[in-house]
Amino acid sequence: MVKICCIGAGYVGGPTMAVIALKCPEIEVAVVDISVARISAWNSDQLPIYEPGLDGVVKQCRGKNLFFSTDVENHVSDADIVFVSVNTPTKTQGLGAGKAADLTYWESAARMIADVSKSDKIVVEKSTVPVKTAEAIEKILTHNSKGINFQILSNPEFLAEGTAIQDLLHPDRVLIGGRETPEGQKAIQTLRDVYAHWVPVEQIICTNLWSAELSKLAANAFLAQRISSVNAMSALCEATGADVTQVSHAVGKDTRIGPKFLNASVGFGGSCFQKDILNLVYICECNGLPEVANYWKQVIKVNDYQKNRFVNRVVSSMFNTVSGKKIAILGFAFKKDTGDTRETPAIDVCKGLLGDKAHLSIYDPQASEDQIQRDLSMKKFDWDHPIHLQPMSPSSIKQVRCVWDAYEATKDAHGICILTEWDEFKTLDYHKIYDNMQKPAFVFDGRNVVDADKLRKIGFIVYSIGKPL
Ligand code: NAD
Ligand code: UGA
Repeated sequence: MVKICCIGAGYVGGPTMAVIALKCPEIEVAVVDISVARISAWNSDQLPIYEPGLDGVVKQCRGKNLFFSTDVENHVSDADIVFVSVNTPTKTQGLGAGKAADLTYWESAARMIADVSKSDKIVVEKSTVPVKTAEAIEKILTHNSKGINFQILSNPEFLAEGTAIQDLLHPDRVLIGGRETPEGQKAIQTLRDVYAHWVPVEQIICTNLWSAELSKLAANAFLAQRISSVNAMSALCEATGADVTQVSHAVGKDTRIGPKFLNASVGFGGSCFQKDILNLVYICECNGLPEVANYWKQVIKVNDYQKNRFVNRVVSSMFNTVSGKKIAILGFAFKKDTGDTRETPAIDVCKGLLGDKAHLSIYDPQASEDQIQRDLSMKKFDWDHPIHLQPMSPSSIKQVRCVWDAYEATKDAHGICILTEWDEFKTLDYHKIYDNMQKPAFVFDGRNVVDADKLRKIGFIVYSIGKPL
């Protein structure tokens, strides 16, 4: 019987292992973490992350062949395959600060694996890491290995939050990279057999280690680039009278381009796009490729430009000041169907409005008040480094209120900013909202979710992304 252990019970480790346990009943899967609170939540009825379909999968397997534990060392020691799915944030200090990946958590996991192992193991990179990380990990493992054989595989994860369970059940592909030696190929085969329980074998791609590591960074860079491309077009649409939705539709009809991931927005967010592109940029610079680095850097610059543009539009349309004005923020999570607020564009937009002394009333169906307050008081890049978390600044607490529904948030507000595309924002009673707002009542739709013409008929002044006024 194969035993799997996954180090890191986060957004990737938890759902991925739950699906492996569901599809491979004969495999025992242990998910371990140093965070006691996270593991307790995984063992409770209130899972630590909100993800459609996750509760059902966990309930079906937990206690049978799926276990969540803080006993990291024992489970690692027992396992045949060890996945490492710890966070790999952007470095905040020292060489490469603000760009390079911080591999502290990865390295400490690798050292622990080397220390506690008593039998041969396959160690799987599940975290997103710089190209050539496997080489560094191999060094750590083999230098401490006491004769134990470790095979390193790269098996990056492509799930998106909000659709994680569906993405895991029906992946476009599974990617496994390994050494081109007989031992490396055997390790690839072992992991392939796990996925082959439910993924058609032709969708399991096997490559060398460096291709697998780089493909993950490349995939995220390509995806983010599409959003920056359409967002750059949205600025041109606003200047010319074209409508970005019509442009995206027309462009996406070309089968070589395709229709997905072309929604203009206030900007992309999430824990990975920016971090992984910065990491890619750093790798290019270290390899003497400044032109390639600059090319990818532009994807982030356009994203920052889009968020700034949004704030400037709010302030300039509201007579050049939002000082003392109540602005309702509808949606704070980085996308719908998740409570995750890591790198959400809402943080930059809210900070921009607070900088102009606005009073914010924030409603999100999933993001908690504690999380929102913490996000707004944290420095850039500190969110994934618990050690750096700063105390909240009293001024931002005073100017920010989190409320329990959209009607409360918009009561007496001068303007509304829609920052997450939650479905419920499409069907709000906008007549009621309009009646309870200050006039003129503004709507800035950062996700193009409302019917702007309908709202204008009610009396709102509506600004959408990339659309004529
Ligand atoms: P996360 O922060 O939610 O989870 C990481 C977990 O690892 C935390 O619970 C932390 O306590 C734990 N951890 C850190 N060091 C540890 C150690 N030494 N021993 C035991 N536990 C330890 O992160 P995540 O969102 O799950 O991302 C994990 C990795 O997967 C990152 O590299 C990320 O880039 C990548 N990734 C994320 C997504 C996503 O949608 N979130 C998708 C694909 C890939
Ligand atoms: C993304 C990738 O889609 C996953 O394949 C990858 O595994 C993951 O990053 C990762 O490595 O962490 P995720 O960030 O969870 O997944 O969510 P996405 O659906 O990609 O959305 C990212 C951001 O882009 C969100 O803020 C979303 O609102 C925005 N977006 C997305 C747009 O603004 N327009 C679009 O057309 C699509």
